Amino acid sequence: MDRTATGEWNPRTFIETALRKIERTVGAGEKVLCAVSGGLDSMVVAFLLDRAVGDRLVSVFVDHGLLRLGEAAEVTALCGKNLQGAFHRLDARDRFLKALRGAVDPEQKRRIIGAEFISLFREKALSLGDISYLAQGTIRSDVIESGAGPDGQAIKAHHNVGGLPEELGFRLIEPLRELYKDRVRLVGGVLGLPESILQRQPFPGPGLAVRIIGEVTAGRLALLQQADAIFREEISAAGLARQLWQYFAVFTGIRAVGMKGGQRHYGEVIALRAVISGDAMTAGWADLPGDLLGRISQRITGEIPAVSRVVYDITSKPPGTIEWE
Ligand code: XMP
Repeated sequence: MDRTATGEWNPRTFIETALRKIERTVGAGEKVLCAVSGGLDSMVVAFLLDRAVGDRLVSVFVDHGLLRLGEAAEVTALCGKNLQGAFHRLDARDRFLKALRGAVDPEQKRRIIGAEFISLFREKALSLGDISYLAQGTIRSDVIESGAGPDGQAIKAHHNVGGLPEELGFRLIEPLRELYKDRVRLVGGVLGLPESILQRQPFPGPGLAVRIIGEVTAGRLALLQQADAIFREEISAAGLARQLWQYFAVFTGIRAVGMKGGQRHYGEVIALRAVISGDAMTAGWADLPGDLLGRISQRITGEIPAVSRVVYDITSKPPGTIEWE
């Protein structure tokens, strides 16, 4: 039960119940491997496991280089500072870039990233050896979306990472399986996660690779991270972050003629996308103030030499989707 005596759902009661379940399941000397992605759900699971098994938690963060500016460092610092067990950051940035070389089709990029992630994780899990449990940040909407039904147990032996846990002999621990995002946030708040993680926007698993139209290169990634960071900074400064479902920059792969320093400049076009949504199934484009958009455009074209133009996406979902790929 994760309800108080009066029947209300309460994050503290949820945490106590989840801790007891984990302690009952994981034997005294056994270790738990927790896959952290930098997103809210997996960080909440890592913090929960830290309370339950302490230094028997082994956290693994695959840094594929496709996160937003500063996020990989933030995850590393946060885990290093707050978790008692071992933390492994796998620097796989070159490996992902190499695997993505020449790929332009969005679905192919997704497949490459998924396959690479699994093989890296498999290599690491095998090298770590004697670990029986894999903890994941699966939440209720993931379960429903994957058609697994609403009655999943909090801890059960099934596999949902491309067959990986079964193949490696892991048993799964998924303490958040019955929670929606809003409750995961409340649990995270009680566990002491910082606001920057608690309020993190939904972010696609394949990361910035699906926000770069065409081939993913180190140069394009760096440019997009910079433009996206400016956009995020200005949205926060304007106090609009909480009203938006997602807001991000896209590297369009289009070039346009402009003028810089009195010279013709044939540069990159960056698109900005900001949407309002309740569940990502439908979304409306956000009517951001013109002066804010103007300031962001000025900063992006002024601070990033290769960018000649910034456009704003005014397409709702449907007919568009939130992401460009
Ligand atoms: P779309 O673009 O379909 O996105 O309107 C709906 C929501 O899903 C996210 N998204 C993804 N998440 N892997 C993910 O884990 C993906 O390949 C992926 N594609 C889109 C998107 O950011 C939005 O929140």
